[in-house]
Amino acid sequence: MAKPASTLAKRADELMNWIDKRLPVTAFWNATMTGYYAPKNFNFWYYMGSLALLVLVMQIFTGIFLTMHYKPSATEAFASVEYIMRDVDWGWLIRYMHTTGASFFFILVYLHMFRSLLYGSHRKPRELLWIFGMLIYVALMAEAFMGYVLPWGQMSYWGAQVIINLFGAIPSVGDALTEWIRGDYFISDATLNRFFALHVIAIPLALLGLVLLHLVALRENGSNNPDGIEIKANKDENGLPKDGIPFHPYYTVKDIFGVGMFLLLFAFVLFFWPEVGGIFLERDNFIPATPLVTPEHIMPVWYFTPYYAILKAVPDKLLGVILMGSSIVVLFFLPWLDRSPVKSIRYKGAWYKVMLALFTIAFIRLGMLGMAEGTPAQTIEMRVWTFVYFSFFILLFFLSPRGKTKPVPDRVTH
Ligand code: HEM
Repeated sequence: MAKPASTLAKRADELMNWIDKRLPVTAFWNATMTGYYAPKNFNFWYYMGSLALLVLVMQIFTGIFLTMHYKPSATEAFASVEYIMRDVDWGWLIRYMHTTGASFFFILVYLHMFRSLLYGSHRKPRELLWIFGMLIYVALMAEAFMGYVLPWGQMSYWGAQVIINLFGAIPSVGDALTEWIRGDYFISDATLNRFFALHVIAIPLALLGLVLLHLVALRENGSNNPDGIEIKANKDENGLPKDGIPFHPYYTVKDIFGVGMFLLLFAFVLFFWPEVGGIFLERDNFIPATPLVTPEHIMPVWYFTPYYAILKAVPDKLLGVILMGSSIVVLFFLPWLDRSPVKSIRYKGAWYKVMLALFTIAFIRLGMLGMAEGTPAQTIEMRVWTFVYFSFFILLFFLSPRGKTKPVPDRVTH
């Protein structure tokens, strides 16, 4: 006979008490969920963090299943991916979830980073949160680059060739360094093997550790918000922020809605357009790697192309590598480059809106040009947008303390 509900509830309480005495599950839930107060004015831009978490978990999950059938060997890798696509039950779904997931990961991370530029989320006291974010971004780029080599298609091979050769531009140690990275005199089985090890173990572990640090740093000061106001500065008689609401249930419900919307879009691309016209999966990568035939037009996947365009904009290889490296390194310093007395774009003058708009256009246009053939006219355009890209940071440093601002309200606007 079934036990009455009240007895079951009592048993569940007893079990929870038993666990709590050994592992502080309830205390952790209260501290990070029901007892954690987040600003009540979150908007669309605040979906991206939880969605990035979802995609991270999805990539790990699908990656585990891909690894069960993939063969990290130069003679078998390409065929093993084809085998996954054609013969393994649901293999096509797992692989397309992984490849579509990679591109969506970058879409989410770019939107997530852009939100900081809108609301000044990287500013004091969240500098470390931003630095951990940047480390995640760099690790994610390494993860995606090495993952792209694994199917051992033409673009895997030649893309790796171009990127690894960039290290050869470093004076005196360049050649030794490229050889060390490849593990051979050319890109070979040894390279594929180490990229596999790094892609499935080392970098995912580093990513998980960094995401944990990112979230701990986030909880320390709490989230910023679209007004760029510190809600902790305004507390009620119970010591709770007046403009805060408990993360659970309010934002867990909001995030679940975001997950639903995201999955609809994700499923649409996954089932109807997984290659996205050669952008998510390049056409040349459906041809097995052939060291003797160079593809006509080598280019990285879309999320790297803005930086690739900066590299191509400079005729000198070493200078190009330095400029490309600087375009990423400069982002680490963003918390100290923006010296405006206000954080959010809502209270900054037109100067910032124009600068940010130009920077965004430059980044997108560079991304498009990085995929193009590289005609002389396109090279000139790349130089113009590279100039705009770097000008953003330089002007930000000099203009932000002087640029016009509007008065910031004491409480968040809703
Ligand atoms: C695996 C990738 C990442 C995950 C899973 C992740 C996760 C999160 C989560 C869950 C939040 C809180 C919710 C939200 O504000 O959306 C957050 C906030 C934040 N993240 Fe990330 N993040 C990632 C990458 C990055 C990157 C690449 C950057 C920047 C370089 C970054 C910078 C920030 C900042 C500044 C905040 C605070 C925003 C605010 O309070 O307004 N994150 N992140």
